[in-house]
Amino acid sequence: MQGNFTYYNPTKLYFGEASLDNLKGELANYGERVLLNYGSGSVKRNGIYDKVVAILREGGKTIVENPGVMSNPTLEKLDEGIRIARENKVDWILSLGGGSVCDYSKGVAASVFYEGDYWKAFWEEGNQPSKGQRILPIGCILTMAGTGSEMNGGSVITDAANNNKLGHVFDSRLMPKFAILNPRFTMTVPVEQMKAGIYDIMNHIMEQYFSDFDDNTSDYISEGLMRSLIVASRAAVKNPQDYEARSNIMWTATWALNTLIKCGKTEDWMVHMIGHSLGAWTHAPHGYCLAACSMAYYRRAMEKGLAKFVRFAENVWGIQPSTFNHKPSDKEIAEAGMEALRQWMQEIGLPLTISEIGATQKMIDDIVSTTEIFPAGYLDLTAEDIKEILKESL
Ligand code: NZQ
Ligand code: ZN
Repeated sequence: MQGNFTYYNPTKLYFGEASLDNLKGELANYGERVLLNYGSGSVKRNGIYDKVVAILREGGKTIVENPGVMSNPTLEKLDEGIRIARENKVDWILSLGGGSVCDYSKGVAASVFYEGDYWKAFWEEGNQPSKGQRILPIGCILTMAGTGSEMNGGSVITDAANNNKLGHVFDSRLMPKFAILNPRFTMTVPVEQMKAGIYDIMNHIMEQYFSDFDDNTSDYISEGLMRSLIVASRAAVKNPQDYEARSNIMWTATWALNTLIKCGKTEDWMVHMIGHSLGAWTHAPHGYCLAACSMAYYRRAMEKGLAKFVRFAENVWGIQPSTFNHKPSDKEIAEAGMEALRQWMQEIGLPLTISEIGATQKMIDDIVSTTEIFPAGYLDLTAEDIKEILKESL
């Protein structure tokens, strides 16, 4: 394994059907005034909101409500949350929802005590809050599996006025102090969103796996996670109420992006950069945006990182030279792996083209113009290359 790294993850996780029981005990660690961030109503419809509010009230907390955190949260909504937090002098934040609410909560937590333009400082320039800056602690009750936001510092916010979706990875001070993961809570997620989450998880693993040429323990962990996800996703698509499958998906999502499998890796993340830009222009679910441009991207990457793609074919999809009726070349094995990935995506019902998520030929220049481009994984792309990838994905 090459590279130097520090591994530190301070989030305490409570997992399983009884995990919400732990909220009561956590309350003693935080102040009286809690900002309760949640989305557009799912938590009220499925009863999770009532359960959480009852525990908070019983624990003597004053709840400051901030509903309406939308999927792909906007800068405008972030401004509003910061204002509410400041006016009500909240002591901590409880995020109740999916990755969007959790990402948003980090944005509020980092910005409440920041004097200046937080959008510019954190998302545009990628700075961390200064050492002495006060940051609100966050707890997360997760209702949808996918982003890994429950155990990382990621916060993706969209400046909707400029179609600019920017992600920032905050340092460990912004990782949730605790996260409650009850797979049962994800059962009401619409099937389309569940599928988007599944591909988001798969792609997080791929973004880290498809980089470097050395033998790295992190890659073996990634292969195990991908295999588990493939099995669980097939079961969950057949029967979305399959608890075993949903719990494995939820657990895989956390490990896919809680900083473990990036140890010793240079990582890629260009599918995410293209996907974020696609999301800003089409408003399609995050995982769908990634799926829609993946095949064209990975076909290119395969040429440069062939050995890893052979390994992906063999260790993740079970393709062996003996599956062929002749001695296959490495390229043939790698291509068979890509084909297995494509078939799985098709089988579980993911979009394979950007047309399916509402992107058109006419939008391509705009999408390229808001894509952050950097050398990554096996490729060093130009804006022209991104344009080609998007055209091939139409
Ligand atoms: O708003 P509500 O009513 O809650 O509905 C949500 C939303 O419409 C619904 N939902 C969530 N839990 C539900 C439910 N509906 C019924 N029952 C439940 N139990 O599902 C919809 C999608 O939720 P959202 O939170 O937007 O999805 P996700 O978790 O995929 O988060 C997406 C956001 O995370 C960012 C994405 O870019 C996007 O903005 N990401 C964050 C990352 C990170 N923090 O590291 C990394 C990712 O790559 C990603 O970029
Ligand atoms: Zn993602």
